[in-house]
Amino acid sequence: MRPETLAIHAGYMIDPTSGSLTPPIHLSTTFERALDNTYPSGYVYNRDNNPNRAELEARLTALEGGVTCATFASGSVAMMTLIQALKSGDHVIAPFDMYYGIRVILQEFFVDWGLSVSFVDMTDLQAVADACLPTTRLIVIETPSNPQINLTDIAQLAEIAHHHGALLVCDNTIASPIFQQPLALGADIVVHATTKYLAGHSDVLGGALIARAQLPIFDKVRRLQKIGGAVPSPFDCWLTLRGMSSLPYRMGAHHANGLAVATYLASHPKIERVLHPFLPTHPQHDLALQQMRGYSGLFSVLVKGDAEDALGITRRVHLFKRATSFGGAHSLIEHRASIEAPGSPTPKNLLRLSVGLEHPDDLLEDLEQALAD
Ligand SMILES: Cc1ncc(COP(=O)(O)O)c(C=O)c1O
Repeated sequence: MRPETLAIHAGYMIDPTSGSLTPPIHLSTTFERALDNTYPSGYVYNRDNNPNRAELEARLTALEGGVTCATFASGSVAMMTLIQALKSGDHVIAPFDMYYGIRVILQEFFVDWGLSVSFVDMTDLQAVADACLPTTRLIVIETPSNPQINLTDIAQLAEIAHHHGALLVCDNTIASPIFQQPLALGADIVVHATTKYLAGHSDVLGGALIARAQLPIFDKVRRLQKIGGAVPSPFDCWLTLRGMSSLPYRMGAHHANGLAVATYLASHPKIERVLHPFLPTHPQHDLALQQMRGYSGLFSVLVKGDAEDALGITRRVHLFKRATSFGGAHSLIEHRASIEAPGSPTPKNLLRLSVGLEHPDDLLEDLEQALAD
């Protein structure tokens, strides 16, 4: 089946007891045993699993072309669980420009537990190969990266990882499974903050790990998920599933709107550079066309001037909202350096835009007045 159909039907079933077309939200924390002491429904306790989570995991598995999926209460805890499945002394390679929250988790917490981490420029394949150690277990990539919008060559990185006996883990949050399929390009595990495009309405946090095969590390991930319980609630799963049914159509609109806004800003005299992989001026535009079928609404601009010039623009917009996050219907604008932890490599004149689902001409008019003298 095609993505538009999978986004609605994978893992879906009409409720057998009521015939309800829309799945009920199963709030029960516990499920009844039969007289023979078995669990005929397969469900035991809500932390282990429940029907809403099972449907969400089946749908994400199908959309990413994997074999199994574990969902979590946020994108951050999904990645944290994967790292918890490693051992002290293991080595992880991660992008120097990765989403800052996950960089903080690695640097501030796991290093104290004996994990060794190298932060590398993932556009430099030789630098990644040189960073590999006999203890390297995971190479983590985020393509495009947030917020510098650097791309990583997934197929080449998979070769490097496998050559060194490591797994390639790809954060696919920004491109979404509609436009990029890392598992088909050789990645072993895909990470998502379902909070963003998958759920798509800025109203529910969530995360997921999807694997291309039954990997031993995934058995540990599943144990941690069930025993630890950092899981999405049944209502979180239900909201995420509801959002996902329109994902392919929303992504098409995010692509078109984002590109219209990026193209406008690229020729504006107050903008130094636009970082958008589907603009021919992006240094990795060819790679974008090679490994992505389209793009989302998230990109960044470098404003001419300093942090104050960038912040000035955020004060003058009306339709764009000054808020963090991305992937929802409302367009957002954010001065990233204001939210990231100290030591972040994000330039001080960088604004990140999450172009939503409004009419692009209204967004252009809003930016035009915000950029006027
Ligand atoms: C690329 C990327 N991965 C992961 C996360 C973490 O997701 P969450 O906010 O759901 O913890 C974010 C959050 O912005 C992100 O941008």
